[in-house]
Parts: sequence; C-alpha cells; structure tokens
Amino acid sequence: MLPATKSQPKEMLPVARKPIVQYVVEELVSNNIEQILFVTGRSKASIENHFDHDPELFHALTQSNKQDLLKELEFDALKANFFYTRQRLQRGLGDAILCAENFAGEKPFLVALGDSILGLNAVSQAVSRMADVFESKRASCVIAVEEVPSEETLHYGIVEPEGDAEDVFRIVNLVEKPAPQDAPSNLAIAGRYIFSPVVFDMIRRVQPDKRGEIQLTDAIQFMCEEGRRVLAVKLTPEEKRYDIGNFPSYFESFVAFALADPLYGADFRRALEKLLDRTPAR
Ligand code: G1P
Repeated sequence: MLPATKSQPKEMLPVARKPIVQYVVEELVSNNIEQILFVTGRSKASIENHFDHDPELFHALTQSNKQDLLKELEFDALKANFFYTRQRLQRGLGDAILCAENFAGEKPFLVALGDSILGLNAVSQAVSRMADVFESKRASCVIAVEEVPSEETLHYGIVEPEGDAEDVFRIVNLVEKPAPQDAPSNLAIAGRYIFSPVVFDMIRRVQPDKRGEIQLTDAIQFMCEEGRRVLAVKLTPEEKRYDIGNFPSYFESFVAFALADPLYGADFRRALEKLLDRTPAR
C-alpha cells in the first residue's frame, strides 16, 4: 500500500477515527483475550507508541479538561497486557507465528491478523465462538472463514470443507491464493485462527515459497494430512471482514466506518451524497 505505508505500518492507517490495530485490540479484549503479543518489525514501532502512555499529551488533555478524549486514550483501562516482539526478517506469516512460540508455551493461542477488522466497529464475537468450538470439539486448529466472490479466491487462503459447509465444519484441505478454477470452495480464511502448540512443529516443516515466505496455510494443511481436527467457524453477515490489505477495500472500509461515526457520520453522509451528485461515474 505504497506510498501510504512508506514510513508507517499499514496496521496504523486510520479507519475513521482509530488506527486499524486499535479495532483489532478492542475486538480481542471484548472476546476476553487478556494477553496480547504483537509480532511487529523494524518499521512498526509506532504500534508500541500508540498503546503506550504519553505523559505530555496526558498533561495537556488534563489541563484543558478533555475528559472524553482522556478516556478514549486510556489503554491501561483495557483488561489486557501488551507484549511486543519483532520478526527480524520478512519471512511470511508462518515465520511471524514462530516468533510467538515461547510466549504461547504449552497453551492454545489465538492469531489475529492486524490488517483485518471483523464487523463494523469490530463488533465480532467470532473469537469466543471459535474458542468454544476449539474446546468442545478438541480441535487442533479453528479458523474463521467467510464467503468471497469466486473471482476473488486468488487473494486468500481457501478451505475445502468436508461435506456441506454449515456454521461450523471440518476442513480437509487448504490452498493459499488459488486461481478461481483451482479453488476448492469460495470460503476464505478471514484472519483469525486458534491453534494448539502443535502448529509450531508444522510450521517448521514448511518449505519457503517462491518469495521466500513460510506460509501458515501450508502448516495447517500438514495438520489436515495428519488427520488432526481442523475446523472452521463461519463469520456472520454482521462480522463482515474489513480488509486493509489493499486500497479499494481500505477506501471502502474508511467510508463505511466514517458513515457510522456517531458524531460526524450524518454530516459526512450529506457531504458524500453531494460529492456523488457532482462526480459523474466513470
Ligand atoms: C493471509 C493468509 C491468507 C488469508 C489472508 C486473510 O494472506 O495467508 O490465507 O486469507 O491473510 O487476510 P495475506 O493477506 O497476508 O496475503
């Protein structure tokens, strides 16, 4: 997403009033996740700064009695502890997850991609449903999935369901970014996963792809091949995924969230309508 992301991470791009990563954190906290490790990189220090206390700003807002803003910036009040580590080389999502091995230890853990917001204002409770499924079905992996138009399969990891794809179903195979004619379904991996620690060994078995990246999808495929229980939980329509990985969907996400803004949404709608009247469609 250059040049927007030349000197800032895409996770820090604003969608309406907040950076994307803040929505992700709020979603996780509302799903009772209390320990959050950010796997960042060399150019992503602004993520740490965002969640840190800023004494000067705190002082200035206190002096001018901006209580509402102070409240919005009180990340300490969120019931979560933040930890940070860096992926030293850009070797793909699988490699990024290996950076969390010591943090996760022997326990199951959730992976949330920092460029995906689930639902308008991150209202999704999918992670809680996934955790229930993980426990009750004794799964090795649970993945959030959503339907995408067939022509878009080449942007996502696509899963192959066993039988009919109900709200919860077993996955028998996965393919990373297949062409529409090769896609086993139109159910895309939606950026939230729960894993048992066995995934780390699977990731270590993955060979880097043409771009030198270790694909997480390949590691999950190994789990399927070994007969481990890999399950999918479908997102509901209200949990629609806002993808900030490319400009068209970033623009759309920004406008959707701005229109829903309690303070500025109504005015923005009027401005947008005027703009649309004035701008002939191309
Ligand atoms: C990653 C995953 C892909 C998933 C997507 C969702 O791809 O590899 O399976 O569908 O996230 O956002 P990326 O967007 O990093 O290329």
